[in-house]
Formats: sequence, structure tokens, C-alpha cells
Amino acid sequence: MSRVAYVDGQYLPHRWAAVHIEDRGYQFADGVYEVIAVVGGRPLDEEPHLARLTRSLAELRIAAPMSNAALRVVIREVIRRNGARDGILYVQITRGVAARDHAFPATARPVLVVTSRRKRPVDPRAVDAGVAVITIPDIRWQRCDIKSVALLPNVLGKQRAKEDGAFEAWQVDREGKVTEGTSTNAWIVTSDSTVVTRQADSAILNGVTRLAVLDIIRREGYSFVERAFSVAEAKSAREAFLTSTVLDLLAVVSIDRAAVGSGQPGPLTRKLRQCYLAHAESAQ
Ligand code: PDD
Repeated sequence: MSRVAYVDGQYLPHRWAAVHIEDRGYQFADGVYEVIAVVGGRPLDEEPHLARLTRSLAELRIAAPMSNAALRVVIREVIRRNGARDGILYVQITRGVAARDHAFPATARPVLVVTSRRKRPVDPRAVDAGVAVITIPDIRWQRCDIKSVALLPNVLGKQRAKEDGAFEAWQVDREGKVTEGTSTNAWIVTSDSTVVTRQADSAILNGVTRLAVLDIIRREGYSFVERAFSVAEAKSAREAFLTSTVLDLLAVVSIDRAAVGSGQPGPLTRKLRQCYLAHAESAQ
């Protein structure tokens, strides 16, 4: 089955799908996006994703290109046309096409693109053995709560992790506190088994996976607190893990080459991963 993309009102063969060179997403990164997991042919946690998309648009004063009801139809159609049972759906909205000028154009219409791809299965070795992270200074802007397509610091951070033989880079603010990974939220488990993740302030993206895992933690009755934690605290944590739509929940077993806890995925991390996978399955 050949891939199909939705581009500004049309379903096109993926290889011919293109936007205009004066699209403001291309020139200014003036746009927002969502990445939604497709499980059993259906979008997982669609409502929180669409709610976050609506919020990102409003924060940047980009008009919604269509109602959320219409967008749900496009999302389903892209999934259907691509025969995607399990995969990833990408939704991007830019401010539109206009002659290059930094200020908002008077007439541009927002441009919506929806694509999907078969999920690269999370590497089973990463699930079994956990992953390494490095820490890097957080050089991003002050509105990381907006899911903007302006991802250059994230790109540079992930590349640095890759070159260091690590899986992810945890970004660190000026106070020495971890904000989040380049495309994941960051978590630790303290020696008294309290799960800690940074509060959803403007220094992080409030992950949909983060919210689902917090719900699970509440439901299962684990102790947790939303607060910032330092690199030193993370390194001496009992367990650590990361979350995202693409990766689900993965154990972090080393930080800057120092083992976290036993250096193996911890029991609470494993339990939460199982609960999250059950949540994904049961949503179908
Ligand atoms: N990234 N933090 C950042 C900076 C992210 O880019 C992401 C997601 C997350 C986790 O959010 P969620 O649980 O809603 O996926 C946290 C997506 C997957 C990406 O850019 O590919």
C-alpha cells in the first residue's frame, strides 16, 4: 500500500506531497504540531492531543484550519488510506504561505498537513536493558509548553546524545534542574519510592504520555510529586525513566555514564510501563 499524505485539503501520494517554499513553517518555524500514536488502527489519547494542539494554536494566534470534528475525520482518513494499524500520526499546522515578512501576514490561511508512518517498533533491547542519557544545558526559548515546530536546540541535543553513544539528552536549566529530554519527558523515582517529574510549567512540554502516566500513578496509589529535580538528585535516584508518544516509557539506566540505581530498569519503571501498555491497548 503506497503512503498517502493530507496536504492543505488534498490527499496526495506521500512522495509528491509538498508545501510551498514560502510556507511560514519552512521560513520561520511558524507552526505547531502533534505526534499521535496509532494503536489498533485508532488514534491513542486523541482528545488530549487535540486539546494541546488547540492550545498551541491559540498561544501563537494561528487560526485553526478546521474544526476539531473535521480534523478527527482527516486523521481517520489518513490512517485508513495508509492501512496503519500500529504507527505514528503527524499533524502540523503552520500560519500559512505569504511573502516573507516577520509580522503576521494579513491574508494567509493556515496550512494543515497530516501524515502517518508505521511505527518503528521500540528497540526491544532498549526496553530490556534501559537507555543512557547525557545532560546538556537547556538553550531553548521560554515557551517550551507550546508544541512548536521550532526544534533546533532539540535536534542539536539529540545529535549530541547520539554522538556520545547515548539515547537521549536531558536538558538542564540555569538552576541545575532537569527540564526534559529533547523529545521526551524526564522522571525519577526517589529512595523512598516517590515518583518525581517536573511540574508542567513553561519550561517543558506537558506530554500526553506524561499525563497518562500520572493518571496511572494516581490510580495505582503510588506516591508522586510534580517538582523540578537536579542532575545530582537524578544521578542518585533509585530509578529513572522517560516518556513520549513514540517511545512509551523507557527506563533510564545511566546519566552522564553514571549508573542510576542498580544500572538495570527498576521494578516501578517496569510496572508503570506495563500499566501504560495496558492503557494503550484498552483504549481500543
Ligand atoms: N515529542 N517533550 C518534548 C520536548 C517533546 O518533543 C515530546 C514529544 C515530549 C513528550 O510528549 P508526548 O508524551 O505528548 O509525546 C516531551 C514528539 C513525540 C516528537 O517530537 O516526535
